[in-house]
Amino acid sequence: MNRTERELRYPSWHKDAVIYQLHVKSFFDANGDGFGDFEGLTQKLDYLASLGVDTIWLLPFYPSPKRDDGYDVLDYESISPEFGTLADFKVFVDAAHARRMRVIIELVINHTSDQHPWFQRARHAPAGSPERDFYVWSDTDDKFAETRIIFVDSERSNWSWDPVAGAYFWHRFYSHQPDLNYHNPEVIEALLSIMRFWLDFGVDGFRLDAVPYLVERENTNNENLPETHELLKRIRRTLDASYPGVILLAEANQWPDEARDYFGKGDECHMAFHFPLMPRIFMAVATGDRQPIVTMVEQTHDIPENCQWAIFLRNHDELTLEMVTEAERNFMWNTYASDERARLNLGIRRRLSPLMDQDRRRVELLQALLLSLPGSPVLYYGDEIGMGDNVELGDRNGVRTPMQWSDGRNGGFSNGDPDALALPPIDDARYGFRAVNVEVQENDPHSLLNWIRRTLAIRSEHEAFARGHIRFVDADNAAVIAYVREYRGDHVLCVANLSKVPQAADLDLRGYADQRPRELFGGAAFPVIGKRPYTLTFQPYGYFWLQMERHSR
Ligand code: GLC
Ligand code: CA
Repeated sequence: MNRTERELRYPSWHKDAVIYQLHVKSFFDANGDGFGDFEGLTQKLDYLASLGVDTIWLLPFYPSPKRDDGYDVLDYESISPEFGTLADFKVFVDAAHARRMRVIIELVINHTSDQHPWFQRARHAPAGSPERDFYVWSDTDDKFAETRIIFVDSERSNWSWDPVAGAYFWHRFYSHQPDLNYHNPEVIEALLSIMRFWLDFGVDGFRLDAVPYLVERENTNNENLPETHELLKRIRRTLDASYPGVILLAEANQWPDEARDYFGKGDECHMAFHFPLMPRIFMAVATGDRQPIVTMVEQTHDIPENCQWAIFLRNHDELTLEMVTEAERNFMWNTYASDERARLNLGIRRRLSPLMDQDRRRVELLQALLLSLPGSPVLYYGDEIGMGDNVELGDRNGVRTPMQWSDGRNGGFSNGDPDALALPPIDDARYGFRAVNVEVQENDPHSLLNWIRRTLAIRSEHEAFARGHIRFVDADNAAVIAYVREYRGDHVLCVANLSKVPQAADLDLRGYADQRPRELFGGAAFPVIGKRPYTLTFQPYGYFWLQMERHSR
């Protein structure tokens, strides 16, 4: 570890992190072959630094047949050639560190591609051999019958027949993604050695893909098993022994209590995505009622001191509706995916801005909630400028289109042949690169991009957002959500109108009597709080962040 790395990896840095998730493939193409690459990404680091994010999470960049956009890995210790070389990767990591940004990479450890040499070897190896046992096999396809299917639109079973092995293999995702068998100690050793490989390049963290499904056992639903948690503790011990400050981020699409278990006693993952909170933020603005958010935050129990939730609005997958009731799912589908092509599996394949009908007020409101609720926020590339999506592209590709840098050729993403691009840039009248791009928004002080910058800058001045407790404040109007984030004596009241019409609310702020709220976006002083309910009025989707100040008469 060099000095910068040591500084960047101070204890629990992940609690302060603002994460930006991106696809190298779709970010910036430096050599004109139509694919984004590490060289291009390195060139855009100043943009990311200027945005105010401090951690970059990269989607998979490993060699792969790309039948699941790289989540089907062929070789864990190399880089798919169109993205560059290991040397380019190293240059990128160092350049990110030099700008005080950290790098989190994907570790797709539940499964490999069926083209991976381990799987090819396994199919040909004798049954019962350690080589065969890299994966999970069965003579019948009725074992583990309690286990749900995740990709319901494309898979009928979690078992597929392999004619070479003469047996069925287990897969939680696509049938070309056989699950690794963590009952085999050699698989664990292989995993630890892959981790060390990337750690030696200086990466600061791993997102552990599909982590609830790592270990299987009969007569269970094969999710969140104690064996899986044991494995994670083992991984964590390895990290802590040699790479302190490197973090694990769990992708566990589970209810809060099960997701929370991935923190262990502070001895498993440092972070976990808060999957159930996300759809409830969308539900709250759709219904103009705070209840879905309040209930979910209150249902989320405290987590170990050294851990942190990762919260998000959108990512590279469909907006998942696995952690909602059936009625809530139907509500979400009817509201946000009335065009049925936007539905995929149990979710919605759309980006933030189109979900909000390109309504700037609602986009701001959602971002203001994301940036003020407890957890480290994860921003999805392109959402800072309000990029659109393209359902025609199949699977989840419609939300992974090239970053829109300018109104120039290929949206400034690549100067290559438009027919040879990784994916076509969005080019329609409303969301296309001619209308929505970084260059135009850089030059417009009122743009969404500049609003996000300002908001992140304000957020970074108050540790309460990253580290503070949350306490809901009583408001007599259900359309208004109000909560205080508090840390070391700094109290920030976050309050928002979730509805589409103007609203007023009386807040119970007796505890702050004689204090004066100061609005953080503009700096204006609000009326001093008295003993009586404190009235605030709001525009549709309006919000305030108010810092409490002692007021001397
Ligand atoms: C995770 C990824 C998703 C991928 C799946 C299978 O859920 O986020 O993109 O398809 O794992 O690897
Ligand atoms: Ca390229």
